[in-house]
Amino acid sequence: MSDAPAAAPRYAGELTTHDIGKTVLLRGWVHRRRDLGALLFIDLRDRTGLAQIVFDQAQSPGLHQKATELRSEYVVAVQGHVVGRSPATANPNLPTGAVEVVATSLDILNDARTPPFPLNIETGAESVISEETRLKYRYLDLRRPVMQQNLRLRHNVTIAIRRAFDAQGFLEVETPFMTRSTPEGARDYLVPSRVQPGSFYALPQSPQLFKQLLMIGGCDRYFQIVRCFRDEDLRADRHPEFTQIDVEMSFPDQEQLFQIIERMLSDACRAAGFEITLPFPRLSWEEAMLRYGTDKPDLRLPPLTDVATLVPEDAARQLQLQPDAPLLAVRIPGVGALSRRERDELRPLAEGRPVRLFEDFARIEKSYPALARAIREKLTAQDGDLIVLLAPAPAAHSSTDRFALHTQASTLRLALAQRFAERHHLLDRKDFRFLWVTSFPMFEWNAEASRWSSAHHPFTSPLPEDVAFLSTDPGRARAQAYDVVLNGIELGSGSIRIHRRELQAEIFRLLGMDDDEARARFGFFLDALEYGTPPHGGIALGLDRLVMLLAGADSIREVVAFPKTARAIDLMVSAPTPVDPTQLTPLGIALL
Ligand code: AMO
Repeated sequence: MSDAPAAAPRYAGELTTHDIGKTVLLRGWVHRRRDLGALLFIDLRDRTGLAQIVFDQAQSPGLHQKATELRSEYVVAVQGHVVGRSPATANPNLPTGAVEVVATSLDILNDARTPPFPLNIETGAESVISEETRLKYRYLDLRRPVMQQNLRLRHNVTIAIRRAFDAQGFLEVETPFMTRSTPEGARDYLVPSRVQPGSFYALPQSPQLFKQLLMIGGCDRYFQIVRCFRDEDLRADRHPEFTQIDVEMSFPDQEQLFQIIERMLSDACRAAGFEITLPFPRLSWEEAMLRYGTDKPDLRLPPLTDVATLVPEDAARQLQLQPDAPLLAVRIPGVGALSRRERDELRPLAEGRPVRLFEDFARIEKSYPALARAIREKLTAQDGDLIVLLAPAPAAHSSTDRFALHTQASTLRLALAQRFAERHHLLDRKDFRFLWVTSFPMFEWNAEASRWSSAHHPFTSPLPEDVAFLSTDPGRARAQAYDVVLNGIELGSGSIRIHRRELQAEIFRLLGMDDDEARARFGFFLDALEYGTPPHGGIALGLDRLVMLLAGADSIREVVAFPKTARAIDLMVSAPTPVDPTQLTPLGIALL
């Protein structure tokens, strides 16, 4: 550095017009360089953003000459005076665009190879870079301002969550990573034991049993922001290792738990700059299926409406509607009638499915004006709303799935909204519409294994009024299980737990586990239930999913510092890898 007196270090992105006249020291990377001959500009980037630095040949020729050596991603320390920019040169697109720093010294701390992709492309244009390249050079990708913002957002949200639980008397307790299999429905990641050759730890799919054991251990209110591991097929909102906001409380009242979680989520959203409305709406699973055709309704869109009862008999006959079958109306606000091409695009959604589509509402309006008016009224449709009707195909009405048509309608509703989202400002990413879905079915029929399996997990308590169904008609039994859903995505899942040993043993039997198997897998837990287990319940929410939605990102990989690909590979460090056979021998493992 030159002989200039050392100035206080500052972050580039934090400079404002209040700093005009000050001497500052900025340290960071060369984001962009513009060489106008006698004037050379660089945008210096650090984790907070960018600031423009000017090297003026007329004022300091030596410094200007040195600055011509600068290339993208060189690491520099620059000292200089903050000056205001004239209205003509101010950059309204840059938070620091009203000022610039006239350099008085330049230290080149390190040079850099040309990065494999430009780091100074506009936010939103990253799709031009393949995700593989971004992940292989994640340390470079992380330098981009949008990624820095995502990391900061995740930090702010996590702190707000910890504070919210602390304020409600919850203790953060760590639970083991080297443990035994917990049944959350995915495959386990296994860790071989050297001291017990042939035996394996499992990485936890969730701390489910440990948090219940903490309640038995007298902890009363627990939370943990905890990594979980699941070997399952990956999607945009799934990752093999992900982070749960895991919660459990003794003597729970479902409503009280909902309020605690709502307050925590409200604080988390506020930390991200969004205010949300409390309390969240609550819908039973059955209502959700009837009104939205899904247990993860996106409340940014209107519900489905059954308009069958509005159809007069003669119209029903002409339209070949089956008596007593639903006629579901999907309304998408503001989209207008579909063009012929759009209708053609829509039809494949119904093809091969037991559903009939009335995608041209104008024809209904022409042939049955009174019916069309009645439908519009029931849907509170405005002019310019798109209406599509769905009826079961002739052979389909007898289907055993009573929500089959609703599910089809839900898929169609979402596909239409996504198709027109951009043009008609639907599905606004900053409109956060939470809800609770309650009273899920206890079991799902597993046709392959010819037995019931838990819809949530086997520690979930049935609704007291449905306990009798366990022995007579398990398919009808509802659970004290709930999900918190945000904009069509399952954010969290939980339940009031079984706290009596006999009921837990009965559920294991119902799931096809005989007493010996239950003892072998969960003996420790069945024993623990006998030593005075308090009533308890809880929930776990996906932190990655929450931050993804708050960041307006499309994938949880955008809010994880070092994510894996959809094939569970870490491209940067190349993991997993084969290991040396000498590492396997002490573990008692031979590869086939
Ligand atoms: P569940 O299995 O529903 O419940 O998980 C709870 C929440 O964790 C998040 N999640 C994931 N996020 C990213 N990638 C994944 N692979 C992934 N899997 C799950 C979701 C989900 O809603 N022990 C129970 C909770 C309880 O009963 O208290 C459990 O783990 O957001």
